[in-house]
Amino acid sequence: MAEKWQQEWRGKWALITGASAGIGLELAKLLAAEGANMVLTARRIDRLQKLAADLSSQHGIRTEVFSADLTRPEAPGEIYAFTANKKIEIEFLINNAGFGAYGNAYKIPAGTMLEMVQVNCSAVVHLTRLYLPGMVQRRHGDVMIVASLAAFQPLPYNACYAATKAFDLLFAEGIAEEVRPHGVRVCALCPGSTVTEFQEVAHQPDRAFKNAETAEKVARVGLEAQAAGKSYVISGFMNRLMKEGQRLAPRSLVTKMAAKMMRASDS
Ligand SMILES: NC(=O)c1ccc[n+]([C@@H]2O[C@H](COP(=O)([O-])OP(=O)(O)OC[C@H]3O[C@@H](n4cnc5c(N)ncnc54)[C@H](OP(=O)(O)O)[C@@H]3O)[C@@H](O)[C@H]2O)c1
Repeated sequence: MAEKWQQEWRGKWALITGASAGIGLELAKLLAAEGANMVLTARRIDRLQKLAADLSSQHGIRTEVFSADLTRPEAPGEIYAFTANKKIEIEFLINNAGFGAYGNAYKIPAGTMLEMVQVNCSAVVHLTRLYLPGMVQRRHGDVMIVASLAAFQPLPYNACYAATKAFDLLFAEGIAEEVRPHGVRVCALCPGSTVTEFQEVAHQPDRAFKNAETAEKVARVGLEAQAAGKSYVISGFMNRLMKEGQRLAPRSLVTKMAAKMMRASDS
């Protein structure tokens, strides 16, 4: 079946953060199948090397891997230097790496929340700021920022995480408008619950993942929206419906309902 984004990134370079698992890994597979070359980054280098080897042999694409821990403020600069030294022109920057932490904000270690802000927000801003000028100068390029359905409302017991994703969404939408006249597209992909390693990493309760989508489907929705020039997209009909419902109800009620649904057992 022909993909809606066919030919969009063929022979060009994409850079994916968080390519070792979940949505990032599925984005890599879909882009490789369409002939995009790829720089894959995350902390788990063994996984990246295996993925890169598989994608290169299956699709005849060029791949590079770079291990980076985005909790380190220096990491985005190191990733940029890696691609610059190899004279790789990044056509498609995918800011996907991220994580959450479930529970009472007054109990989650401060360090965990600060690292979350660093990975989910600061690294996104930094990488985007590094790669965007080249795209604007060339008058073409794409940036995807993986936000979340959680970006649209406060989420008790995931308060810090939802706030980081609201930041991602607003940042993406704002710069999308700025760079559109320069031929550059920016899109925030907003998944609802998705079957990945996220739930385990964040210690999220199962009830929040009852109707979770597959990472492959979410990745596909993101690439379609990117190619269509949308500034954000929510994956899944029920998720879009939920977002519309949230908009109509009073904000305090929406927050109370979310708290009821997500309440931590130790609160
Ligand atoms: N799954 C969901 O329900 C859901 C819903 C909405 C939005 N999202 C968003 O989707 C994005 C992808 O998450 P996912 O669901 O695919 O989760 P995942 O399976 O846990 O994958 C997360 C990816 O981010 C990377 N990562 C995490 N911390 C990192 C760090 N400190 N430095 C560098 N890379 C790091 C991980 O690689 P390493 O561990 O190898 O470093 C991994 O490749 C995230 O931004 C998440 O917030 C997920």
